[in-house]
Amino acid sequence: YVIGVDLGTSAVKTVLVNRSGEVVAEHSESYPLSQPKPGYSEQRPEDWVDATVISLKKLMHVSQAAPESVEGLSFSGQMHGLVLVDGEGAVLRPAILWNDTRTTQQCRRIEQQLQGRLLDIARNRALEGFTLPKLLWVQEQEPDIFAQAVRLLLPKDYVRFRLTGQYAMDYSDAAGTLMLDVAGRSWSKDILDAFNLPEELCPPLVESFQHCGTLLPEIAEQSGLLSSTSVYAGGADNACGALGAGILEEGKTMCSIGTSGVILSFEERRDVDLEGRVHFFNHSEPDAFYVMGVTLAAGYSLDWFKKTFAPGISFQELLSGVEAVPAGSSGLLFTPYIAGERTPHPDAEIRGSFIGMDVSHKLPHFTRAVLEGITFSLRESVELLRASGKDVNTIISIGGGAKNEVWLQMQANIFNAEIVKLASEQGPAMGAAMLAAYGSGWFKSLQACAEEFLQEAVRYTPQPEVVEKYEELFKLYQDVYPQTQ
Ligand code: XUL
Repeated sequence: YVIGVDLGTSAVKTVLVNRSGEVVAEHSESYPLSQPKPGYSEQRPEDWVDATVISLKKLMHVSQAAPESVEGLSFSGQMHGLVLVDGEGAVLRPAILWNDTRTTQQCRRIEQQLQGRLLDIARNRALEGFTLPKLLWVQEQEPDIFAQAVRLLLPKDYVRFRLTGQYAMDYSDAAGTLMLDVAGRSWSKDILDAFNLPEELCPPLVESFQHCGTLLPEIAEQSGLLSSTSVYAGGADNACGALGAGILEEGKTMCSIGTSGVILSFEERRDVDLEGRVHFFNHSEPDAFYVMGVTLAAGYSLDWFKKTFAPGISFQELLSGVEAVPAGSSGLLFTPYIAGERTPHPDAEIRGSFIGMDVSHKLPHFTRAVLEGITFSLRESVELLRASGKDVNTIISIGGGAKNEVWLQMQANIFNAEIVKLASEQGPAMGAAMLAAYGSGWFKSLQACAEEFLQEAVRYTPQPEVVEKYEELFKLYQDVYPQTQ
């Protein structure tokens, strides 16, 4: 077996996978997200470690697998979050997460100081979610903490460090720091020097499938695994989601709906100029890249909506009413900007809206409008990828958004593309397990692993009449941003 650990924003998920790619057991353990001030989003790195160890222990318990049958484990991690540790490896402050938007000033400073060099080197614009602006915020606002910082890590790199005692960061996650020379695959001295950041802060760079040590004895004991279990570096959750969806060649696109929502395509052109309209990051295999657009609050919008307006019922109950509501939610339109937006509007200050409320609207209309609003927002990213020359005719859907049939059909109609759902869809956790499987030498390439592990289960085809209706509504949807800005 191998284990995939997906360190998400709301929970860590572990999966135990056999040589044919079957998930024989899985377990999730959640942790809190704190918003100490509006726009702030933080987590305690210790909570990730505790939840990961508990989840591994429960995974071993439910599966009854023999510890020596687990050959390796690897990670997928929420991207961009800043973890600072001192010389002893102790965490200096809570992690500042990808969906924290306190750093607008720092983003301006980065863009002013580096100008065109930023896009040339880091290949992305300075956005609040990325790591460099968070680091500059700590440098400016918490100089005492900054002075003690010896290493910066991303969330899954911190957890891996606690499990193995070794520091490392893989290219796919490092790409989201804004400090990496993405095409050159090294820390950018140019960017670090511009902000007086010592290169020693940045951990050694490794491939996602690289061996990064074995479990520390105390972790082995607490988790029920052996201390000889190999640990492989792992990758950014979007790179792992792409891997777990088989996005390993030009022409393949995925839609991933978790807390955030992502439209992502494989990109083989290392020098394609997208002018920063979509993100451009390293993939989890060498010399491969991907482009993507992000909706900040995708699943998060649905979660917020349920918590606020329907706390007493389950998600299943909430979504069961949606099918009876016609496409377009009888005139109700939602924009999912409840925590600001990224693509196509890099705007931390925009807020969401319900437009067109009518006395006839009931809970299912609002619920459907929320699903449609999230999907319209992702359609904007689909359009940016199409405009960059990609044929987006088939999209593999993963994550929470792939768990509901009505939503899958809605994706086909709003994107005007065939939507594929995989058998035993596991999202980024599967990508993490694939990295461990490839790292353990089970396959000669990640592509061969994908061929063995992944099977298509269902295909949703666009329905021309509904496509047309959504086409009109999409234009209205696009008008809301400039009007509410
Ligand atoms: C990507 C991003 C999110 C997180 C979610 O740029 O910020 O998709 O990776 O974990």
